[in-house]
Amino acid sequence: MPVKTRGAIMRSAPGKFEVVDLVSDDPRSGEIQVKLAASGMCHSDDHLATGDIPVAHYPMAGGHEGAGVVMKVGENTPGFEEGDHVVFSFLPACGKCRWCASGMSYLCDLGAGLLVGARFDDPESFRFTMADGTAVGQMCGLGTFAEVTTVSADSAVKIDKDIPLDVACLTGCGVGTGWGSSVTAAKVEPGETVIIMGIGGIGINAVQGAAHAGASHVIAVDPVAFKLEKAREFGATETFSSIEEANEFAKSVTNGQGADKAIVTIGVTTGAHVAQAFQAVRKAGVVIVTGLGDITDQSGIPISVGELTLFAKEIKGALFGDSNPHTDILKMLRLYQEGKLKLDELITKRYKLDEIQQGYEDMHAGKNIRGVIIYD
Ligand SMILES: NC(=O)c1ccc[n+]([C@@H]2O[C@H](COP(=O)([O-])OP(=O)(O)OC[C@H]3O[C@@H](n4cnc5c(N)ncnc54)[C@H](O)[C@@H]3O)[C@@H](O)[C@H]2O)c1
Ligand SMILES: [Zn+2]
Ligand SMILES: [Zn+2]
Repeated sequence: MPVKTRGAIMRSAPGKFEVVDLVSDDPRSGEIQVKLAASGMCHSDDHLATGDIPVAHYPMAGGHEGAGVVMKVGENTPGFEEGDHVVFSFLPACGKCRWCASGMSYLCDLGAGLLVGARFDDPESFRFTMADGTAVGQMCGLGTFAEVTTVSADSAVKIDKDIPLDVACLTGCGVGTGWGSSVTAAKVEPGETVIIMGIGGIGINAVQGAAHAGASHVIAVDPVAFKLEKAREFGATETFSSIEEANEFAKSVTNGQGADKAIVTIGVTTGAHVAQAFQAVRKAGVVIVTGLGDITDQSGIPISVGELTLFAKEIKGALFGDSNPHTDILKMLRLYQEGKLKLDELITKRYKLDEIQQGYEDMHAGKNIRGVIIYD
């Protein structure tokens, strides 16, 4: 029997999240139905609201950073049973495609369906409907801004039951993306100087990752003073409100050479931001671009090709911080249990589903590192 539930949808973009009654379809083969415990409010769902990330189907149920308890399992879902605790990965991993098989499951071919919102194997079939029968998509195939959701088992990672679900959910996007941007994508090494631009739910974890990897200087940049204060708590050694000051400082501690790595995690990332990071890194330095902006913008990155070639610099995009969901989510949770990864401290404020709009307003006002919706 399909389950009646409630969830926050976007009817068109630009728009606002609206909480409506939904019906969550029964899990089919390879699917599980989950009762959400918590969902983080990542900036990527705000890109859905502004239209910076256009999706193929409206209405779309938002949310892609969730954790909960399995209510029902479809056939062919080995390893899952009712009562299991799961974290969703915003990137599904099939385990079989070229990318999964070569250790890059963050590029799994199933990702092609993330902004369609339908079943990955059937673009005409949706797992949410409204009372009038309207098909509703699921952001990243998840739609975690709903009390109950049915998802592909490829999007879920089973976790220990003693890990609190409100913090566990953060590993499915924010922590994996930020921590991985430093540790795995940028391969930060002991003694390095690293600049992180933009200290939200992603950037704070890039700070935490760079500190964990042993960087000597973890330089956080954000125009909001509260973000810089939090960055220091997560291991930033220096903080600045502008990239110009950060760049100057990085040069002052590297004999004028510049930062070894720069990681861009700005809420609405533009080519100009990437160019600033590019100018701040040394010869053969690496820029990791994790932040997203208007993904239809074709205007590019205003950098000198000469500087790129002659200084052998690198600019690299990163999805989920080059992390592999099915191994790295469990690794991060293990580090949390060992006291080596901060998760509790990431949650600035908890909201009810009906307060979702307030949550995003607080994010824009610079009040939250991460706002998290808690379900009953
Ligand atoms: N690549 C991926 O896999 C991936 C995954 C998740 C999120 N993202 C993207 O990462 C970005 C960050 O997400 P978030 O949830 O942390 O957002 P957020 O809104 O919580 O944080 C963004 C921060 O950027 C700061 N900022 C704005 N302009 C700045 C500037 N010029 N210099 C320095 N800082 C500036 C803001 O003050 C804010 O603190 C978003 O674009 C999001 O879509 C990417
Ligand atoms: Zn996200
Ligand atoms: Zn795959």
